[in-house]
Amino acid sequence: MAIIKTDLTHLVNEIDLASYQEKVNVIDKMIREGTGEGADFLGWVDWPANYDKAELESIKENAKYVRENYECLVVCGIGGSYLGARAAIEAVNGEFNKNDLEIIWLGMTLDSHYLSQVMDYLATKKFAVNVISKSGTTTETAVAFRLLKDLLEKRDGKEAARKAIFATTDANKGALLELSKKEGYVRFVLPGNIGGRFSVQTAVGLFPIACAGIDPQAVLEGSAEARKDAMEKDLLKNEAYKYAVARHHMYASEKKAVEFFISYGPNIRNLAEWWKQLYGESEGKDQKSLVPASATFTTDLHSLGQFIQDGSPVFFETVFHIVNHRHDVYIGHDEENLDGLNYLEGKSVTWVQEKAYEGTLKAHYEDGNRSNIVLDIESMNAHNLGYIFYFFEIACAMSAYLNGVNPFNQPGVEVYKRNMFHLLGKPGF
Ligand code: PA5
Repeated sequence: MAIIKTDLTHLVNEIDLASYQEKVNVIDKMIREGTGEGADFLGWVDWPANYDKAELESIKENAKYVRENYECLVVCGIGGSYLGARAAIEAVNGEFNKNDLEIIWLGMTLDSHYLSQVMDYLATKKFAVNVISKSGTTTETAVAFRLLKDLLEKRDGKEAARKAIFATTDANKGALLELSKKEGYVRFVLPGNIGGRFSVQTAVGLFPIACAGIDPQAVLEGSAEARKDAMEKDLLKNEAYKYAVARHHMYASEKKAVEFFISYGPNIRNLAEWWKQLYGESEGKDQKSLVPASATFTTDLHSLGQFIQDGSPVFFETVFHIVNHRHDVYIGHDEENLDGLNYLEGKSVTWVQEKAYEGTLKAHYEDGNRSNIVLDIESMNAHNLGYIFYFFEIACAMSAYLNGVNPFNQPGVEVYKRNMFHLLGKPGF
């Protein structure tokens, strides 16, 4: 099967996809020729074909060094400089992967409880740091990095700290670039024409991904396959654009306010977080856009499930449905059958979950009158993950342009920063 299939057969009202073909053609041309708003940030479109081959080799070599020499890697970044790597590592490796380098996330919070617990934990660990910031001035990341650098330098000395720190930042400007040059850290580049939330296939995502033992080349190859598939001109055969059009239609014509990204399994939670940032930051402007929300089934069927079935009908669901699973667990026999589960004896938990998925889809669509876009995902692995990232990125660009907004800026994010800097007494604010 295709890596992603966009199934629109569970929409309450059918969409006349063909009526969007012309609009899609115009926007697709705009994306590929760089003639739309925000065209300076289209570097990600051809990146899977044009990526820096020498840097990929350096990513692989340095990741090997980290895996051989350290117990943990601290990934220090926020937003687009962190969510993709976390999404990837958890989706592919899970959270309890054995024999792996431990990955710790920092730089994405100012919560002192979290920070002090992590710093206490690291005090006894042999750890490396990947500090990631395009601007180099993001407060959350800079504060955490100062703590990490200080701990390493005081505990292990300046030279050992230098070897343990890897910086990913802009090639030409920013505070982190200057600091890294002065300290002599190994550096990776976030290209100037790729924004944070579209950067997971660059060193921003690939170095942590490689450190976690996932093949970064496979991720890029998956993205390259998605790039090729997204060139399909016929909208009815272009799965990414079909998804973009369907969600746009739900917003613009069916007046839905919320899109719930539904996944099955805790390991996909951070992929949903990455998706939320991608769509929220790209589309949420000019007083427009769907609210990108998420729920994890079956867990959240026991909380949000009530609202989704019977509550305010302001939303539709997009179900991230993985078809083939890598692992399985089988339900055994119990002589006494006190829990009444012997009727499931010999069944796999995947089979049980599939029945939960089918039953839920039927309940929400048939009984609840909720529209569901189903994305059938062939399976989860590094290659398919690269495909998934690119699929959502190109669909996001299409969907934002359909909505008449520039997908690549984030003026709203700056407002809180300016206020915070003023309150903190930062010079110039
Ligand atoms: O997508 C984006 O542009 C943002 O989420 C940024 O990635 C985030 O604000 C972090 O910025 P920086 O990499 O400059 O520290």
